[in-house]
Amino acid sequence: MRPRQALVTGVSAGLGQAMAQKLVTEGVEVWGTARDVSRVPEGLRPVALDLGDPASVAACVERVRREAPGLDLLVNNAGAGAFYPLEEFPVEALDAQWRVLLHGPAELTRAFYGDFRSKGRGCVVNVTSLAGDYPIPFMSAYSGAKAGLSAFTRTLMLEAEGSGVTVIDLRPGDYATGFNDAMRGFDAVRRPDAARARDACEAHVRAGPGPGRAAEDLWRAVSQGRSGVVCTGDFWQAGLGPLLAHMAPERLIRRYLSGYYGLKGR
Ligand SMILES: NC(=O)c1ccc[n+]([C@@H]2O[C@H](COP(=O)([O-])OP(=O)(O)OC[C@H]3O[C@@H](n4cnc5c(N)ncnc54)[C@H](OP(=O)(O)O)[C@@H]3O)[C@@H](O)[C@H]2O)c1
Repeated sequence: MRPRQALVTGVSAGLGQAMAQKLVTEGVEVWGTARDVSRVPEGLRPVALDLGDPASVAACVERVRREAPGLDLLVNNAGAGAFYPLEEFPVEALDAQWRVLLHGPAELTRAFYGDFRSKGRGCVVNVTSLAGDYPIPFMSAYSGAKAGLSAFTRTLMLEAEGSGVTVIDLRPGDYATGFNDAMRGFDAVRRPDAARARDACEAHVRAGPGPGRAAEDLWRAVSQGRSGVVCTGDFWQAGLGPLLAHMAPERLIRRYLSGYYGLKGR
């Protein structure tokens, strides 16, 4: 499928910015969101969106429907993490994680998938995470919300069969973006095991590829016009890792992750 008009959430930085710019270079007209629209890069049509606020989500849907009647691609990319031992997780931060990572994207999907379906054409891409298969300690709400968004997206793939709409679960591994800089609780960690896990997260994100790779993978997946799960990242995280996640016993994966994040000390 060759999209003509797209909505990409979270274009002020990172993966969303690279994806939106790739779409523009391919001739797609792009509506891009940020909480502060002054952060939307030139060349995109700015739309304000705070996924934590249901009224803002509704206003975004209304505005994009009005301005982009030919919309045929939705990329639900925007998101941010929170890093706390569960017993220290502020209730309001827990609630915000579900809203920003699950409720908001689900509502945008519901609205625009319905429009695409009635036209018999369109593509929904939900940016989930490898964290759905390989959970990240102290990011329980993040890992849970991303796993939930992934299951939601795969459910929709079934419902969309034969409708002319494609549905893609785009699962990034670690990418070098400012994701950790925006993460709540990341700088306030006190427990030694959480501090080791935080340092490991930081090292992995810094070592990840640049966002351009995710943008290329997005474009390839959308152009192919097939629903499915698309893993994106380095060789291990986009290839072998996802395969092993479905073959290895759960306790082996847990033991591996415990070492990966230094949970028992070194
Ligand atoms: N980087 C990685 O290693 C990685 C790995 C797996 C999955 N992901 C996923 O990829 C997506 C993009 O992450 P990134 O690495 O590009 O992070 P990033 O550089 O921090 O960019 C996040 C984007 O999301 C927007 N955003 C944050 N909170 C928002 C909210 N409450 N409402 C609306 N927009 C909000 C930000 O816009 P404003 O702050 O300007 O509003 C920004 O444009 C996220 O869904 C993330 O979970 C990233």
